[in-house]
Amino acid sequence: MKPINVGLLGIGTVGGGTWTVLSRNAEEITRRAGSPIRITAVADRNTELATQVTGGAARVTADAFELVKDPEIDIIVELIGGYTVARDLVLAAIENGKHVVTANKALLAVHGKEIFAAAQAKGVTVAFEAAVAGGIPIIKALREGLAANRIQWVAGIINGTTNFILSEMRDKGLPFADVLKEAQRLGYAEADPTFDIEGIDAAHKATLMSALAFGIPVQFDKAYVEGITRLEAVDIKYAEQLGYRIKLLGIAKRRETGVELRVHPTLIPSSRLIANVEGAMNAVLVQGDAVGATLYYGKGAGAEPTASAVIADLVDVTRLATAEPGHRVPHLAFQADQLVDLPILPIEEVQTAYYLRMRVEDRAGVLADITRILAEGSISIDAMLQKEPGEGESQTDIILLTHQAIEGQVNAAIANIEALKTVVGKVTKIRLEELN
Ligand code: HSE
Repeated sequence: MKPINVGLLGIGTVGGGTWTVLSRNAEEITRRAGSPIRITAVADRNTELATQVTGGAARVTADAFELVKDPEIDIIVELIGGYTVARDLVLAAIENGKHVVTANKALLAVHGKEIFAAAQAKGVTVAFEAAVAGGIPIIKALREGLAANRIQWVAGIINGTTNFILSEMRDKGLPFADVLKEAQRLGYAEADPTFDIEGIDAAHKATLMSALAFGIPVQFDKAYVEGITRLEAVDIKYAEQLGYRIKLLGIAKRRETGVELRVHPTLIPSSRLIANVEGAMNAVLVQGDAVGATLYYGKGAGAEPTASAVIADLVDVTRLATAEPGHRVPHLAFQADQLVDLPILPIEEVQTAYYLRMRVEDRAGVLADITRILAEGSISIDAMLQKEPGEGESQTDIILLTHQAIEGQVNAAIANIEALKTVVGKVTKIRLEELN
């Protein structure tokens, strides 16, 4: 049993968790992997912290480039994050014949094509279970557990920060900005929360899942990305009255003409299990033709949950290292020469249902004008809510839920509705998925 030597790049939250779990469960992990897996070297700018966490049991250096060239290292674990230095390090590790385990969704979503091609050419593995939904083994499920299926769609709550914010907005009826401040105070949201609240982090993860589900290249640049910053508490309230919850969903859906790849706030029926995933938890729903719907739930971030995924990859790579590269599980689930060129559809071609909220003058014929415009666009109404005007008010809110429609036609109808003299201001549009 030759020990497997791991070089760890970055010993922050997840790196520290990886060290702790690998030490605590060493015996059990060895029984599973067939060889002891030990972190023999750590690279971190904060060498003091690295020495403190490892207690002198690993070599510590500030030079990560030195580590990726070290002939004694078998596997590099990249936990630095970001697109630039991390990309150079991962490519250098591959070039030096090392397997790579990474939690870096941004890197793989943006530079995945280049990185997987380099790994394929060199006969090494790039494993990334920790990159999507933290501790939930969703990559394993998509790549192996569901391999018999033609996957139809994947829909996930894959960003804990935004799910925490939406849960708080619903529970306390507070506006987005107030809850964001609270999330930052509690340490859920970063000081710069842009990637989370603008949906970018979720889009990185959805991009990776779309590749695994449909055998297409990773194409983050084609994803439609809309975060939660413009979501108003009033829409969460109206959605609830209509029997829905609003979640930030990452969706990858197969259509005949291509793939829908989108992240946006979405109404989901409150009765669905996934609608009841609250706080910082993650969940992914996968629809396969043979298995039907399967749901995966757990912690999407944090030191030990994410370390759980990192170490599962280390065990996998340890087991697979002796297999011929052609006999290993392919990086993106499908054999590298079997990827298909299904286009990612523009958002105007997406087909889904819609929640539309508009402020109108409360007088005869207003609703008739609105429904006529929708009918002209072949948009069928599924449900409607109209509030009584408040005391002394002449305006009121109308909320419409539509059946499935094409986004471009819905946008055209909204423009016509906004042009009516009896409609005040803009129409709020939120997409709706029944997920059935
Ligand atoms: N920032 C992410 C989240 C965790 O809030 O879920 C890491 O991907």
